[in-house]
Amino acid sequence: MGTQKSNEGASGTGRRALLGAAVLGAGGAVLGVTGTARADSVRYGSGGLKSLPKPTIVGHRGASGYRPEHTLGSYQLALDMGADIVEAGDLVPTKDGHLVCRHEPEIGGTTDVADHPEFADRKKTKQLDGVSTTGWFTEDFTLAELKTLRAIERIPANRPHNTLYNGRWEIPTFEEVLTWQDRQTRARGKQVWIYPEMKHPTYFRKQGLPLEERVAKALRKHRKDGRTSPVIIQSFEPTSIERLNKLVDNPLVVLLSGANTRPWDFVETGDPRTVADLVKPAGLREIASYAQGIGPTLDLVIPRDAGGRLTEPTALVSDAHKVGLILHPWTMRNENPFLPADFRKGTEADAYGDVFGAYKAYFATGIDGVFTDQPDTGVLAREVFVNS
Ligand code: G3P
Ligand code: CA
Repeated sequence: MGTQKSNEGASGTGRRALLGAAVLGAGGAVLGVTGTARADSVRYGSGGLKSLPKPTIVGHRGASGYRPEHTLGSYQLALDMGADIVEAGDLVPTKDGHLVCRHEPEIGGTTDVADHPEFADRKKTKQLDGVSTTGWFTEDFTLAELKTLRAIERIPANRPHNTLYNGRWEIPTFEEVLTWQDRQTRARGKQVWIYPEMKHPTYFRKQGLPLEERVAKALRKHRKDGRTSPVIIQSFEPTSIERLNKLVDNPLVVLLSGANTRPWDFVETGDPRTVADLVKPAGLREIASYAQGIGPTLDLVIPRDAGGRLTEPTALVSDAHKVGLILHPWTMRNENPFLPADFRKGTEADAYGDVFGAYKAYFATGIDGVFTDQPDTGVLAREVFVNS
């Protein structure tokens, strides 16, 4: 049985009312939405989750299909492309207790740390949620030290063009993101939403660097700790979300990896349940007592067969909706290797597949939104879907 992440890689409502008026008002020009009557309606605001357009397009680590992930350049591009929310960022702490935006504590693959001889002796092998991991870890660096590094493309083999931007941006802090959000909101004349994820909360708490209290403190400082604040917080560890729920009123989302995996906090506390248990009605009811949504892997929404092709949708969407939970699955990516086998095209390994076909299949399940590395494609797929 695995723990947490296992892959990266209700019935449909047809022509919806789903595309909330919000996107058409504020983002209509960006989207090129047809139908001006709808496009003139409501603007974005701080009306909480209900004010988000549906299906909601979440820029995964920014616009990470085009820029090194978790940089202000990636976040900015996601907004430029019309993303409704930006996943800014995955949050990990520094040695001196600051929250920074990196996908993982290990930063060998997303920064140029290996090119810094002064940090050569920081390279270590650690047990990270039961997995032996070698590299450089944010918790071994002060913020000042991390600020001397620059971000690089995480998957250059798949996305060689993105290496053009290696070295252009530093590692952002959560504080900087919260300020950036306000600046972008003012500049764009509409509310910018962010969707930070607390990474490995149990791992960091055991090291004296708890995440939840730090996240809550930052949200309070910026007056973004309310029920309608434009900040959704997510975590793969349900008890971390439960803990945060006692500290702030923000919308909260429990991430769910493969069905046979077990959240790491459950492993540490001896809770025997797996994700397969959590997606049953009783598990969903429990989650709904402290969270507003779930972020399942797409395979929990439509499983793939042994050949990687989509099968039939599960009952997850309708079961979650019955208990009032929204669903924001992850992660749509345009390139063939990340798509279900039936939506891959051509012989070039990393060419784009029939991603609009894949979006159509997933949107038809009734999901409330989706994380994507290419927000522009997601926004267009949404437009096609709601107008079909
Ligand atoms: O948070 C949604 C999605 O980002 C979860 O996976 O590994 O990309 O953080 P990961
Ligand atoms: Ca994430």
